[in-house]
Amino acid sequence: MRAYDIIDIKKNGGTLTDEQIREFMRAYLEGEVEDYQVSALLMAICLRGMTSEETHSLTMAIRDSGDVLDFEGIEGFRVDKHSTGGVGDKTSLIVAPIVASLGVKVAKMSGRGLGHTGGTIDKLESIDSFEVSIDRDKFESIVNDIGLCIIGQTAEIAPLDKRLYALRDVTATVDSIPLIASSIMGKKLAMADDGIVLDVKCGKGAFMKSIEDSTTLARAMVDIGAMAGKKTVAIITDMNSPLGYAIGNALEVREAIEVLKGKQVDDLRRLCICLSAHMLHLYTAEDISRCEEKCIEAIDSGRAYEKFRQMVIAQGGDVSLIDDEDKLLRARYSVEVLSEQSGYIYSQDAEAYGKIALHLGAGRRTKSDSISYNAGIILSKKVGDSVRSGEVIATLYADDMSLMDDARDMLLDATIISDTPPPTRDIILGEVR
Ligand code: URA
Repeated sequence: MRAYDIIDIKKNGGTLTDEQIREFMRAYLEGEVEDYQVSALLMAICLRGMTSEETHSLTMAIRDSGDVLDFEGIEGFRVDKHSTGGVGDKTSLIVAPIVASLGVKVAKMSGRGLGHTGGTIDKLESIDSFEVSIDRDKFESIVNDIGLCIIGQTAEIAPLDKRLYALRDVTATVDSIPLIASSIMGKKLAMADDGIVLDVKCGKGAFMKSIEDSTTLARAMVDIGAMAGKKTVAIITDMNSPLGYAIGNALEVREAIEVLKGKQVDDLRRLCICLSAHMLHLYTAEDISRCEEKCIEAIDSGRAYEKFRQMVIAQGGDVSLIDDEDKLLRARYSVEVLSEQSGYIYSQDAEAYGKIALHLGAGRRTKSDSISYNAGIILSKKVGDSVRSGEVIATLYADDMSLMDDARDMLLDATIISDTPPPTRDIILGEVR
């Protein structure tokens, strides 16, 4: 069948067979189908959707486009955690060492940030000399020795996703439930973990703005995981305002270390305990409340921080920067943003805050941009806090002073202050099994 016919079927709301999807994608990877034809199919999928069978077929086409790792050399039960992307989301840096300190193996491949959302690999690279390109043997041996290793994506894993994502990024076809589900799960299934915990973000700073869409995305991914025989659970979490107080690579590593050392950063710590408890539960099958107690104990005893430290050493990073995490505050300039009115912080638009961090140099607009690891924002106030006129609501960090004025104006615009406090909203919004 011609590529044209496949596009036409989807354009008219029809259902594609497994063979049609796999054949179309094979032909694309082998240069027989052009980017503009794939873009047309992606747009048709965006507008018409996909059945769960079609989404499954696309996921498998993505998984099978590259190496499917079995990690035979790694002993033990491996669990991964994946977030659909948010602002200030440094949870991987916290949950991975928590569960690794409790016997779960974490052999993690993470991505870089793009647009207003950050990526774990950029954050880790803000620790001097931290190595994210590690060959397979060394990766397996680190996971066997200390239970934990986080590396960047390799070209061999799910190359089809890389090609599709690059097209989606420039054709306004990112925010499609079947495309996101197959992209994430295709990569996850290629890593052949025993269990997967998905953090599906919901709100202004997320791809999915409503609880209904987030639940549908979560259900699609959990079903794909189950069909592939993986223990999979999704937690739906709030992404209307930034997670924690820090946004920007080195600043987020600093906050993650603070949480691992016991600091009570309410929303961030609560979410990390929830996610790590679900990861542990997939391994031990104990009650979630018991798993939560164990995760809290891992932090309080210092074992989780020690695990993070072992990972930094094993991956060649400068451990002095994490033993004294304030050394990560290295931006050349910092500017305090003062509130222009008194009241309560009603909202802090997560997407807008992500864009301010991007403006300050913390992120990249295109994949080839370089970033400033030191740049970003530290909030002094969070949603629900009271504030007086003239009080500091945030501090901006950048290596280029000329970026500060616009960033300050953007931050004031993205922060709504009201006379009455906003309704309280839990960070955990739901769960899909
Ligand atoms: N993260 C991914 O890996 N893929 C998407 O499509 C969206 C978020």
